[in-house]
Amino acid sequence: MDTTQFSAGILDWYVIHKRDLPWREVGLDPYRVVVAEIMLQQTQVPRVIEKYTEFLGLFPTIYDLAQASRESVIQAWSGLGYNRRAIMLQQFAQEVVKLYEGKIPQVPEALIKLSGIGPYAAGSIASFAFNRPEPAIDVNVRRIYMRYFHGRDEGLPMGREEEKKLYTLVKLSIPENKSCDLHNALMDFGSLVCLRDAPRCSSCVLRKNCGFFPLYTVEKEKVLFVAEKKVEKGVMENGRHIPNRIFRGRIVEFVRKHAGEEVSLEELGCAVKKDYVDADEGWLVELCLKLEKEGMITFGRMGVKMEGKEDGRVVLGLGK
Ligand code: ADE
Repeated sequence: MDTTQFSAGILDWYVIHKRDLPWREVGLDPYRVVVAEIMLQQTQVPRVIEKYTEFLGLFPTIYDLAQASRESVIQAWSGLGYNRRAIMLQQFAQEVVKLYEGKIPQVPEALIKLSGIGPYAAGSIASFAFNRPEPAIDVNVRRIYMRYFHGRDEGLPMGREEEKKLYTLVKLSIPENKSCDLHNALMDFGSLVCLRDAPRCSSCVLRKNCGFFPLYTVEKEKVLFVAEKKVEKGVMENGRHIPNRIFRGRIVEFVRKHAGEEVSLEELGCAVKKDYVDADEGWLVELCLKLEKEGMITFGRMGVKMEGKEDGRVVLGLGK
């Protein structure tokens, strides 16, 4: 497989189309790269741009983040969603300070042992922060390689062997000293050209050698992979199924605004669910206790857990 031609094409395209993003400065502090990568894992680029500089203003170094109160970190994460990432990122900072004197390790094997770091983040930190030739395979990268080299769309379940092959292929395609550039190029190419639902094949500079282009041009519907929507666990709100993930976010957002205040379960319920009724109380308590267990909110009164409270009022707090 000619990975050289592929990488050269992507990098040429990147020279002209690269997005100017705040975490792409050359020689950026690796800590800043980590903050960006964790934020970007489940949040769209425009929203991350808004929050990234603000977060780093509050926690300019890895030591600042490690030493901050958990409450202030969760507070600063507002607007980014998936709040558990805030706790994990702070734990990551604490571990790096404790185990590595504040210096973020450069190799995926060490990175992956730290809090909040999976295979993608380990590869992306090694690649973006240290320019190491380590594959960082996210949905964009997977889609681009599967289409170009295999004429197959993303999303189809892959076995271990296929995953390994994809890893080897990406690794092989990283030109010497260009891991950071190539990965940045792939991110941009995936969001501007090789889009999931409506790829811009007719204007794609790689189409001549792309395995997907001829298939897509002839039989769009057959080759485009349409993911089945997973039904997440949740409840009905005004006639629509809303995932618990959304309610968890709303609860944490409510606590951000009302930390230190005393509220009843009903007040909290009505604030987070438009059609809240008494029968929802068990569900609400379950979500709150889970958030408390994760260290996201405190949900007690003078340190006392809410269960068995006579008047049902609780003092809300963030973090632990
Ligand atoms: N998504 C994850 N990492 C990214 C990056 N460095 N640039 C743009 N989008 C990304």
